[in-house]
Amino acid sequence: MTGLEFHRQLTLQPKSPSERAAIFANPGFGNFFTDHMVDICWSEAGGWHRPRIQPYGPIELDPAASVLHYGQEIFEGLKAYRHADGSIWAFRPDANARRLQSSALRMALPELPVEHFLDSLKALISVDAEWVSSEPETSLYLRPFMFAKEAFLGVRPAKKVAYYLIASPAGAYFTGGVAPVSIWLSESYSRAGKGGTGAAKTGGNYAASLVAQNEAYAHGCQQVLFLDSVEGKYLEELGGMNIVLVYKDGSLVTPLSDSILPGITRDSVLQLAEERGHKVTRRAVTIAEWRDGFESGEIVEAFACGTAAVITPIGQVKAKDFTIGSPDTAAGELTMSLREELTDIQYGRRDDSHGWMYRLDG
Ligand code: PLP
Ligand code: COI
Repeated sequence: MTGLEFHRQLTLQPKSPSERAAIFANPGFGNFFTDHMVDICWSEAGGWHRPRIQPYGPIELDPAASVLHYGQEIFEGLKAYRHADGSIWAFRPDANARRLQSSALRMALPELPVEHFLDSLKALISVDAEWVSSEPETSLYLRPFMFAKEAFLGVRPAKKVAYYLIASPAGAYFTGGVAPVSIWLSESYSRAGKGGTGAAKTGGNYAASLVAQNEAYAHGCQQVLFLDSVEGKYLEELGGMNIVLVYKDGSLVTPLSDSILPGITRDSVLQLAEERGHKVTRRAVTIAEWRDGFESGEIVEAFACGTAAVITPIGQVKAKDFTIGSPDTAAGELTMSLREELTDIQYGRRDDSHGWMYRLDG
């Protein structure tokens, strides 16, 4: 497939270097956006067409656009990293492209070819490269998304769809940086069910998590942990991250479920652990196993992982009737060393022996 030719309309009001520097000084997560965005249209009749780079700004939508009523939407999240020589790289973007395709299949949206996805990333970086900070542990978070824009109130898959890519300078996802986080166990709400959309990256899953996320905040926790919706005892994942438990023999266990998002960070970090000789198991694991294992000393660390959160130690799990750990639990040693290995690869400080990095500039 030949590369897409993006029509370029550049902004007349780019942020100045000093405005950008002020943003870089304290980006947080998801607060600020670059000067441009990319979009590609799709119609049933014409397929993917009209790839464009245009100034970042509001999208005009018909009030009947079906995404606003029935939520036919999917998205991705990945980061662009600046290496010491100034070059800009993404981490396994082909995996995000394929996951967008599987989300599309589940949500009856058209599949964007992997090459178009990669081309869209390069197109945005071709105009917004200065937005990739070289400050330590910062990056440019890339947010591709696709939604039903056909103006039609009947319930069926839309015949007109838009794909967009926006980008946002990112520091740490949690305000405390990499300090251990507290997790609230949701016992009243499920995120996803059997045969549902849990494995797709679609807005509705996040909407479904918000009332539980509010409970988490009310209990002084930063994230919510969901259990399976049938028995309410098997670990699934957090609102926006996967989880991994570390046992005292050095083995790692992560929930196996078809209703959680197959995380690219988790897949990568488990591969790194396996290469170091750690046993890695993907299996059903209950909250009782975590609680008992923590009490007996069998389970020694737990971490959350995802693009936004990278690898974040879990200090405690709070539930209605019990607590695992405490807020001042120290970050796990293996957790932090896997985090370092992963981020070293992402920031180009360590050899990319897996061929995971993909150059976005030049
Ligand atoms: N689970 C959920 C619900 C997420 O939103 C994310 C973040 O994208 C993840 C897991 C981790 O996925 P990844 O490592 O590919 O970012
Ligand atoms: C990501 O890590 O990319 C996500 O989509 C998770 C979200 C909580 C920001």
